Amino acid sequence: MASVNSVQELKNLVDPTGVYGEYVRLTRKGKRSVGLCPFHREKTPSFSVDQETGLFYCFGCHKGGDLLRFLQDVEGCSFTEALEILANRAGVTLSISAGRQAAASGAPDRKEKLRKALASAERYYRSALKAEKKGSAVRSYMEERGLGPKQEESFLLGFAPFGGGLMNHLAGEGFSPDDAAECGLVVEREQGGRAERFRNRLLFPIKDAMGRTAGFGGRAIDGQEPKYLNSPETPVFQKRDILFGLCWSKEEIRKRGQAVLVEGYMDFVAAHEAGVTNVVAGLGTALAGGQAALLARYAKEVILSYDGDPAGLAAAQRAVPILLAHSLSIRVATLPEGKDPDECIKRAGAEAYKRCVEEAVPFFRFLVEQAQAKAVLGSVEGRVAFVHSLSEYLAAVPDLSPERACASS
Ligand code: UTP
Ligand code: MN
Repeated sequence: MASVNSVQELKNLVDPTGVYGEYVRLTRKGKRSVGLCPFHREKTPSFSVDQETGLFYCFGCHKGGDLLRFLQDVEGCSFTEALEILANRAGVTLSISAGRQAAASGAPDRKEKLRKALASAERYYRSALKAEKKGSAVRSYMEERGLGPKQEESFLLGFAPFGGGLMNHLAGEGFSPDDAAECGLVVEREQGGRAERFRNRLLFPIKDAMGRTAGFGGRAIDGQEPKYLNSPETPVFQKRDILFGLCWSKEEIRKRGQAVLVEGYMDFVAAHEAGVTNVVAGLGTALAGGQAALLARYAKEVILSYDGDPAGLAAAQRAVPILLAHSLSIRVATLPEGKDPDECIKRAGAEAYKRCVEEAVPFFRFLVEQAQAKAVLGSVEGRVAFVHSLSEYLAAVPDLSPERACASS
């Protein structure tokens, strides 16, 4: 791969409008290109890119700067990371020392090292899965779950062998046991020493919005508990700020202005393969403000598509105020009792699931129906409790215009 020596040289290799154009639908207007600003909500375009200088400026929110500033703001990444995005795009490597880059941006070197260790682990797990023959435990499990070569390649699935082996691989690539421990790949044993965290599990790499591996979700294939074992929080993996699959769906989410939020890794894979390519999944935790903020960077509307059990319904209700706080429109798609998107797609087919997503109802209708199901409307107390349970959500709506609260009904 070719290498460039300076930031300027790198900037010269990319067409800025092309990069801006991946985030903003731009229309040419004389010497400028204009579009809807990705940093604030607006209906008429105030975001503009100067064709000659490659600088951007928004006349609405007054954000402005060069392409690297734009990437840092839109991706929520560091200066070094923005450089990486451009370098990847141009198909070159940057030969400015990582140290100098880090000093220029204040980005800590340690995180870079951990990310490299995680990327190396991902390669190891992937080749371990490739080495598994048809009929082996993990291959049989995958077949049962409808995970074929296509899904394996698209979502970079891996396998943590029963006997381990990751530690040796990492040592061979220059990572210390401390590196492995800090990125959550090994655990301290009670009796002393360290053991690999994932054993005999099918692994889903969990990536940040830029596609960098931050951790793994490991599905037991032999009835081991817990069913899913996830990487712990580390300096590069903060669950409240990551959505599973966003790196694979973000372009489609931005294009449609809409994201479909599901609960599980398998739901993500099934929905994506079914053609719902604007899907993302939570990480088994309650939806966090950071995750909602992340969605709001790409989407205007979120369709909640949680499991059709009481836990899924309750989780959808809890997600509402968090999404509202980030000015997102919300609709809720409900599945038949006991089903999740993955099962729905496998049993009823891709079209049935897509229909269910299309027919999602405005969140307020969902909340009223949920409250109604529990309410005792025969008594005054019951009616008061009913109204009270809804007022909590009304208070969370930042803009109560009927157009927003009842969008697309
Ligand atoms: P579910 O229990 O709904 O699992 O958890 P699922 O996605 O249907 O899993 P399959 O179909 O049985 O394989 C939803 C999500 O919650 C997290 C995972 O992210 C999972 O995808 N989870 C669940 C855990 O982190 N640990 C667990 O033990 C269970
Ligand atoms: Mn499932």
